[in-house]
Amino acid sequence: MKQNSKVIPFLWKEGRVRLLDQTRLPNEVVYVDCRRARDVWLAIRKLKVRGAPLLGIAAALGFWLGFKSLRGGRGDDLIREARRLRAYLVSSRPTAVNVAWALRQMEEVVVHNAHLSKDRVLAALEKKIKEIIDDDVRMCLRMGEHGAQLVRDGARLLTVCNAGGLATSGGGTALSVFYRAQKDGKKIWVTACETRPLLQGARLTAWELAQAKIDVTLICDNMAADLMRRRAVDAVFVGADRIAANGDFANKIGTYMLAVCARHHGIPFYCVAPFSTFDMSLSDGRAIPIEERDPAEVTSLYFRRPIAPPSARVFNPAFDVTPHALVTAIITEKGVIRPPFGKNIRSLYGSGAGKNKRDRAR
Ligand code: MRU
Repeated sequence: MKQNSKVIPFLWKEGRVRLLDQTRLPNEVVYVDCRRARDVWLAIRKLKVRGAPLLGIAAALGFWLGFKSLRGGRGDDLIREARRLRAYLVSSRPTAVNVAWALRQMEEVVVHNAHLSKDRVLAALEKKIKEIIDDDVRMCLRMGEHGAQLVRDGARLLTVCNAGGLATSGGGTALSVFYRAQKDGKKIWVTACETRPLLQGARLTAWELAQAKIDVTLICDNMAADLMRRRAVDAVFVGADRIAANGDFANKIGTYMLAVCARHHGIPFYCVAPFSTFDMSLSDGRAIPIEERDPAEVTSLYFRRPIAPPSARVFNPAFDVTPHALVTAIITEKGVIRPPFGKNIRSLYGSGAGKNKRDRAR
């Protein structure tokens, strides 16, 4: 299936894996060649590739590269290697459950086919990865369709981080809603929060939306509440990295603050994510593992210019958890889920999509 976004975040052709180095956007469009599982692990850790659904795809490609480089073997040897690769790649970043979700599928393919030759297992892995990629494109389209019904012509929408074509193999999660609204002929204005410390909103979302000719205004993160008070935001749409069974969800740091402000100002707050982002093994958001990153991300401006004394103590969580009570609805590929979330998630989840009960990354 064709990727429907103009930005292609990965290339997987003729036995090669190339990942768009998102740390160099918007100034340069450069792809990094990944030849080994370790190259993909590093690309994930360093945020060259990022965004929950895309992390799942990248991890699956890393698994494939690792498996491809095995010398041979059958049966238990292959299963042992599959377990090793899964454990290794899942350690790259802890919060997005899509990594564990995709790797579990890779391991299952190996377990089911371990009686076959390594080449035939590899072919089965390739088929599974294609399925994951195509499903992701389809899920983005569905989320866009469902979400766009909540967007009126002339709406002013706010988002954070990048939940777009750069974070999926399709048009994105939150941004797929904007793309669909635009396709339906609605005029929309988007505000992108810059998303300190790594500026995914400024570097990626503002760039991606401008490419798609969607009217986008960039703000610093601390300007959002004031914008809401001025009645300049009609709705907030964000992505997610992991959603617990009760609807609490982790997303880029700053999301919780936006949800609190949106509730205070009576503005609808929507989380857009596929079922591969649900972790039904967690009853609520308290157990979601939150990644803490390098203090240098905070003490410098995008690793270039120091903006704090070297002695400054730093706290740098990459994600926060928004309690479900602040969420108006969760938009998935299967439909829009409204409160009570626990009950409504269970009934939609139970109807088939993306079961990942055993997918805890930690
Ligand atoms: O640290 P990042 O850039 O990987 O964080 C990404 C986000 O928080 C996204 O909003 C989330 O993964 C959803 S992407 C469709």
